[in-house]
Amino acid sequence: MAEKVVLKIKKKEIELPVITGSEKEKGIDISKLRASTGGYTTYDVGYKNTGATTSAITFLDGEKGILRYRGYPIEQLAEKSSFLEVAYLLIYGELPTKTQFTDFTGSISKHTLVHEDIRKFLDNYPERTHPMGQLSAMICSLAAFYPDSLDVNRGEEEVNDTVIRLLAKLPTLVSWIYKRSQGHPVIYPDNSLGYVENFLKMFFGYPTEEYKVDPIIAKAMQKLLILHADHEQNCSTSTVRIVGSSHAPLYAAISAGISALWGPRHGGANQSVIEMLQNIQSDGGDYKKWIEKAKDKKDPFRLMGFGHRVYKNFDPRAKIIKKASDDVLKKLGINDPLLDIAKNLERITLKDDYFVSRKLYPNVDFYSGIIYKAIGFPTEMFTVLFALGRLPGWIAQWKEMMTEKQPIGRPRQIYTGQTERKYAPISKRKK
Ligand code: MLT
Repeated sequence: MAEKVVLKIKKKEIELPVITGSEKEKGIDISKLRASTGGYTTYDVGYKNTGATTSAITFLDGEKGILRYRGYPIEQLAEKSSFLEVAYLLIYGELPTKTQFTDFTGSISKHTLVHEDIRKFLDNYPERTHPMGQLSAMICSLAAFYPDSLDVNRGEEEVNDTVIRLLAKLPTLVSWIYKRSQGHPVIYPDNSLGYVENFLKMFFGYPTEEYKVDPIIAKAMQKLLILHADHEQNCSTSTVRIVGSSHAPLYAAISAGISALWGPRHGGANQSVIEMLQNIQSDGGDYKKWIEKAKDKKDPFRLMGFGHRVYKNFDPRAKIIKKASDDVLKKLGINDPLLDIAKNLERITLKDDYFVSRKLYPNVDFYSGIIYKAIGFPTEMFTVLFALGRLPGWIAQWKEMMTEKQPIGRPRQIYTGQTERKYAPISKRKK
């Protein structure tokens, strides 16, 4: 018999169906709650207990530290796959055949160029503009260059053109934003290179000299992008879904996702980690003092990059990145006092009962910040790199929402303001 939950409101009992996922996760289906209770709604600020959708893309078990894309463990994908293969898997649901993969990578290569007028927009930003703001604006602006993307009834092939354009142009835009922030000329895409190699060349290369891609860095980048590619209904992904649910163009939904990712409580945390380490360093580098500050309830200081909203034991991505960051630092022979502080914070917090009992272990943002720094990316670009990795996940989640013809996202509220009162003209109000 199908499982049901009984809800008793005053003397009335209402049966609510239970929905079970493929990994046996259970949810109480409250879609008929208001109708069957005469207007009761649920209350769950921050959606900690709310399933906003069913989804067949990413499975995450925060208690056991499991993360799978379309059923494939993140450990296997990070070790054996490539970012574009993972992007294909997330967006189309299966790993590609050889022909499908050749077609997919081929069409991405064809679309790497970005309209020259976009480059001109970049020329006019103030020098210290945060790159996330520019990226969000540029992605939204792409809708102006591809107006057919506004047609919500266009065919599957046309939708796919937008998907390919987004994947192809994001690395170019990210690198161009960086180049313009430095006052350097942009580097145009080199379609003879792979996705990651081309990105590294556009980002770190100069028109004045040959750029040789370091395979250690390229491999680490592949891993980082794979690990960030999707994370089910997080803040930015939920934003992409909700903006997309109004049938705004995909470019606008992705641009909104980038804006949501920007904040230090989400993707911006990787930048905050390095800024915290810099503060500790400029204060003399006494990391023990800062650990004590973090433990002191009266002190507002909090360690950035520790703990996670849904992982209660460990973040499986952090485990993989920790190893990758150790490898990269070793192979590149990097010696950076900031990274020494990070290593010391990590060493102590993993053993200290205060952090262990509160499950405040270093998370994905802690290690990704370290590895990006070691590779040579400037701190303000870290969150942009997260966006580059998260793009396929956002697209996949948007596509799923559209294919299922989900209704517009429209949460309810419990109103706590004034009840009805009479308007008084200003002359009749207190002085
Ligand atoms: C993410 O990857 O989106 C972050 O870990 C945040 C989250 O999942 O809530």
